[in-house]
Amino acid sequence: MQIEPLHKDFGACIRGVTLSGMTDPETLILVRQAIDEYSLLCFPDQDMSDEKQLAFTKLLGTPEAEHVLYGSTGEVSYFGTVGNVKDDGSLQDQTNARYQSGNQLWHSDSSFRETPSFVSILHAHEVPAVGGETEFVSMRSGYQRLSQDEQQRLASMHVIHDYVFSRSAVAPVNPNHAASLPPVMHPMVRTNPGNGHNNYYIGSHARSIVGMSGVESRELLDQLLQHTTESAHIIRHAWAAGQTVIWDNRCLLHRGAGYDAARWRRRMRQTRVVGNEKGVIHTIPV
Ligand code: OGA
Ligand code: MN
Repeated sequence: MQIEPLHKDFGACIRGVTLSGMTDPETLILVRQAIDEYSLLCFPDQDMSDEKQLAFTKLLGTPEAEHVLYGSTGEVSYFGTVGNVKDDGSLQDQTNARYQSGNQLWHSDSSFRETPSFVSILHAHEVPAVGGETEFVSMRSGYQRLSQDEQQRLASMHVIHDYVFSRSAVAPVNPNHAASLPPVMHPMVRTNPGNGHNNYYIGSHARSIVGMSGVESRELLDQLLQHTTESAHIIRHAWAAGQTVIWDNRCLLHRGAGYDAARWRRRMRQTRVVGNEKGVIHTIPV
């Protein structure tokens, strides 16, 4: 297993590992440690199918039911389709592009769930020749770049994450889906149990900070986001077919850079692993 760091803050490209059909517990431990250390792992040239991806996902924990389908219909699927290609191989229409445009805002997958995701695993089957990159930033590195006073100020805060708040600005949310995702409260600062590193936890689903006025809370969330996403701290990941990328949603934000969906095919399959830190359903109006 060769690990090549991608940036001074976070991220690594890992070669010499076959994720599908992995049976060796030592390699799995190394992958888990690399998640804790690098937050973003890219494994090129993986032979991946949905079946293999789900089996690998289960090695990292409990797979997460895709929330749009589950919330709208109660049906469980462990896959999200990212891009513009339907399961039958044909191209999706533009309506879907509108729904996916929410992914172009900086976010952490499932931060709006009572139990947010640990990692997302995204495998690229078909990618555009131009565009379609995914950008990543680290809220751990952002936290480390704050002064001690600023870190201290965040320590006792709690943040409301709300899917309906973030996504109804982009496209209508199905009423059943909306009802399945009430606002949740998470601590502002999270600690990685493996290495003790702290990070704040924000992104597009972060609606407000408990106990602050709307304006004050918006200002702080916007300021933290700006600080996190300064260009020197972004990894812009250019996809190649066959790559499997794992990112740590506990401490990273990501966003899609967009592409010409009328011109290019982009077919990616995503699974997520359930995290182990539970937030609190927030019933008090904020
Ligand atoms: C995702 C996501 C952005 C992209 O897969 O969770 O936000 O690059 N993707 O499409
Ligand atoms: Mn996402």
